[in-house]
Amino acid sequence: MKVLAVNGSPRKNGNTATMLREILSGAAEKGAKTRLVHLNDLTMKGCQGCLTCREKPGECAHKDDFQGLLEEMKNCDAIALGTPIYVFSVTGQFKCFLDRCYCFIDNSEEGTYRSVLPGGKKLALVTSQGNEDSQAYRHIIDYLLLLFSFLSGSSIEVITQSGTEDKDSARKDASLVERARAVGRSLAS
Ligand SMILES: Cc1cc2nc3c(=O)[nH]c(=O)nc-3n(C[C@H](O)[C@H](O)[C@H](O)COP(=O)(O)O)c2cc1C
Repeated sequence: MKVLAVNGSPRKNGNTATMLREILSGAAEKGAKTRLVHLNDLTMKGCQGCLTCREKPGECAHKDDFQGLLEEMKNCDAIALGTPIYVFSVTGQFKCFLDRCYCFIDNSEEGTYRSVLPGGKKLALVTSQGNEDSQAYRHIIDYLLLLFSFLSGSSIEVITQSGTEDKDSARKDASLVERARAVGRSLAS
C-alpha cells in the first residue's frame, strides 16, 4: 500500500503541509509506505495545449518533472491532495498541476469522458484558508471534488481548515491533527 500526498502550498511547513503529513502519519500507522511531494520543488510548466494526450490518454508529451509525478500517481493506492486558498482560488502551483492532470481524461469516444487514472484509488482533499467562514470558497472545493471524484471514481474525504492565523495554525489544532490522522488511516484501510 503506497499513499502519495501532493502539497500545492509553497510553504513546506505551513498548514497544508502539516495536514498532509498528519494524513501520511495516519496511513503509516496502517502500514502504508508514504511520500510527500511539494509541487513548488518541481520544475513543471502549465499544460502546453499540445493535445498529444488526446491521442495517448494517460501520457503527457511535455518532458518535465510532472513525468515522475504522473508515474507516482498511477502507481500509488491512495492520494491526498492539498492547496491553500490564494486570491479566491487554488495556488498557481496547484492549478498548474490540475491542468496537467488533463492527460488522465480520455474523451476519444465522442461525447464520453473516462478517467484513465488506474482505478480503485482513494483520494482526500485538504484546503486551508485565512477566511473564518468555512463556506466562503465552497465553490472552489466543489470544483476540486468534481474533478477528483471523476478521476478516482470514488467518494473523497475533505478537510477544510479556515481562519488560519499563521503557518503553525494547523499544528496547534489538536482536533484538526486527529481528523487528518483519521483520514490517513482510512486512506490506507
Ligand atoms: C498570496 C496569498 C493569497 C491569499 N488569498 C487568500 C484568499 O483569497 N482567501 C483566504 O481566505 N485566504 C487567503 N490567503 C491566506 C491563506 O489561504 C492561508 O494563510 C493558508 O492557511 C495558507 O496555507 P499554507 O500555510 O499551507 O501555505 C492568501 C495567502 C496568500 C499568501
